[in-house]
Amino acid sequence: MENFRALRKYVVPEIIYGVDSHRLAGQYAGRLGLSTVLVVSDPGVESVGWLGRVLDSLLAAGIVGVPFVAVTSNPKDYEIMAGVEQYRGAGCDGIVAVGGGSPMDCAKGIGIVCSNGGHILDYEGVDQVPQPMPPLICIPSTAGSAADVSQFAIITDTEGQRKIAIVSKSVVPDLALIDPMLTTTMDRNLTARTGMDALTHAIEAYVSNASSPFTDIHALQAVRSVAFHLLAAIDDPKSIAARNGMMFASTQAGLAFSNASLGAVHAMAHSLGGLLDSPHGDCNAFLLEHVIAYNYVSSPVRYREIGQALGFDLHGCTDGVVCEALVEGIGRFRSAVGIRGSLASQGVKPEQFSLLAEKALLDACMVTNPRRPTVKEIEAIYAAAL
Ligand SMILES: [Fe+2]
Repeated sequence: MENFRALRKYVVPEIIYGVDSHRLAGQYAGRLGLSTVLVVSDPGVESVGWLGRVLDSLLAAGIVGVPFVAVTSNPKDYEIMAGVEQYRGAGCDGIVAVGGGSPMDCAKGIGIVCSNGGHILDYEGVDQVPQPMPPLICIPSTAGSAADVSQFAIITDTEGQRKIAIVSKSVVPDLALIDPMLTTTMDRNLTARTGMDALTHAIEAYVSNASSPFTDIHALQAVRSVAFHLLAAIDDPKSIAARNGMMFASTQAGLAFSNASLGAVHAMAHSLGGLLDSPHGDCNAFLLEHVIAYNYVSSPVRYREIGQALGFDLHGCTDGVVCEALVEGIGRFRSAVGIRGSLASQGVKPEQFSLLAEKALLDACMVTNPRRPTVKEIEAIYAAAL
């Protein structure tokens, strides 16, 4: 039963949601009093035209947009520091990010260093960013990361071959312009892996030991929506109904995980991404069912609700049967969206398990996992997912 004495905190940016909301970038940057903004994106988003459209919107409002597209997936510490140089050199007074999780996290990193000085790796951890960032507008082009609504920025420490998590109210954007049209240019693979990321956010937030009624309602609805819309978005990429369903699901999952945090899947995926630069969504997809098998005993009621939200018929089933159905069902869903193979296909080797597990145990997301694993148990989960 909910502890009515527990204090709950819930942070959300201003959100404008809907088709064509990206066209409001210039108008809102003007309202924030900006004159020259760094526009953080990546070559993929630039090539399908969304960066150009955002620059046009800024230009129409009399605002200078300075593009910065030297961002790769799993954004690297040196990319953030290069962005800081460009921001300062061009005399920017704000940031617009247009893209998926990587450009948005990179933009957050740039903002942190521009306001606080030093190096991006100085700000690892929870509540370690003292000064607020310059104004930041995020325009997501994927339905997955929800960095546009979250208090998280994940950056790769290239020398340490690990990902750091920066969790702070200071990295919540001032405005999220969430436009499902931008996701219609994603290919099947990107749609699948970002969609599995959104599903993982929702599931981990729902079983997190920092969950609350504020986050539960969004988490569970996001699970239902991904189950309903993801295959349709993959099969019919131009379907605005499916794209809108996934974008709203991603946003709801983001509202949930931003405030309830995540768990072992993300802690272990960050470890993989840091060491091997593997795609974040694929890592989550390969690990999710195995972490559920491990975590299930700690939260059987909540996992049963997740199974029901996914549409599985669990009526009259014992906990053991529900766990099996969930693990198998998630595996089937992953295959159905086209993510085949396993961690081995990402180049993971058994001799890397102990290093991966050590790093995963130190990740900020592990703190809210409903079950506290040992290093050996994490190694066993990696082995099961190999
Ligand atoms: Fe994620």
